[in-house]
Amino acid sequence: MHLEKIRLFNFRNFKELEADFSKGLNIFFGDNAQGKTNLLEAIYFLCNLKPVRTNKEQHLIFFEEEKAYLKGVFSTFFGSVDREIWLNLGDKKKVRECGVEKKRFSELFWQIHAVFFSPDDLSLVKGKPSERRRFLDLIISRLRPKYGRYLAEYNRALFQRNILLKQLKHNRTLISALEVWDEQISELGTAILKTRMDFLEKLYPWVKKYYLYFSRDERQLELNYENTCFTEKILPDSFREAYALALRKSLPHDLESGFTQVGPHRDDLQFLLGGRDLRYFGSQGEQRTLCLSIKFAEMRMFFEVTGISPILLLDDALSELDKYRRKWILEENKEWQVFVTTSDISAIPDDILKKGSVFRIEAGTLGRWF
Ligand SMILES: Nc1ncnc2c1ncn2[C@@H]1O[C@H](COP(=O)(O)OP(=O)(O)O)[C@@H](O)[C@H]1O
Ligand SMILES: [Mg+2]
Repeated sequence: MHLEKIRLFNFRNFKELEADFSKGLNIFFGDNAQGKTNLLEAIYFLCNLKPVRTNKEQHLIFFEEEKAYLKGVFSTFFGSVDREIWLNLGDKKKVRECGVEKKRFSELFWQIHAVFFSPDDLSLVKGKPSERRRFLDLIISRLRPKYGRYLAEYNRALFQRNILLKQLKHNRTLISALEVWDEQISELGTAILKTRMDFLEKLYPWVKKYYLYFSRDERQLELNYENTCFTEKILPDSFREAYALALRKSLPHDLESGFTQVGPHRDDLQFLLGGRDLRYFGSQGEQRTLCLSIKFAEMRMFFEVTGISPILLLDDALSELDKYRRKWILEENKEWQVFVTTSDISAIPDDILKKGSVFRIEAGTLGRWF
């Protein structure tokens, strides 16, 4: 799968842009603040329907404008797929695929996926737990179609339970109504937990492998799922019971705070290097390498499950890598479509430059270099 063509209108600092990309390596170079990251963000947004640097989609629209438009033409195993997105200030985005309006992420063509890495954005490792949950939820819902539904239903039930908790503060007679929500939540929550843990079990060996490859650090890297429902190791068959018990135990706190304190919406991921928690004690370099390794592991998992390589977006990441690893990313992996940005074109050896398409970005315009 790869992106053949892109068209943008009023997206970030691009008034209008049209470009054809190469199936393998694409390089965007230019000075700072010209739009390199913005263009990667446009590609990411077309693939995953989420911005990279903000959670407000309005930020993606050209300053002072009201609308933005993006179109991507993807070449896939099943032929060409075009996807269009309209952004409107004060309205929901509209998405069309091959001319048909799509209301849900799960209705979109499953092959199209992008992975973004920037050494400036280490929120996956050192940001809030919600960043790590967001990562998990996006990739898992892509790979396990049922997961997105569990998640949506879980969030709906959780929302209702939280409303009820607040009402119970004033009116305890409603307490019996809690049972219905607890029942639903423990069922859906258990399904989410199982899917997440199963996914992580498969992701972990890849994270470990890439971390060792990029860092050559021999210390043991561990990845743990931090579960708010139960801390001790229990068999998946007992999850549901343990979950229901955790909900009951947490009820006094939940009533006090008016908010459900346990469940997948509060869980986190923990990364230990030689027993030390990298979220809090990792050096900048270790956190970067971990982040890069997780992104590569994500690509690999996507490939293992679907047989398709996602699009790799590397923002100013080349300086992070020594020349062998750079070569490995840019040259050896011919089955990936890769977009890299750099302000220093000399960081890329000539023979590699010749193999890719090189574009120069200047003040929101894109020019073909060679
Ligand atoms: N919504 C927007 N509308 C217009 N310009 C924007 C918008 N968002 C960001 N920019 C501009 O884009 C530029 C940064 O582009 P960026 O892609 O980060 O540059 P770089 O080439 O350094 O990666 C800044 O000048 C910023 O003001
Ligand atoms: Mg940038």
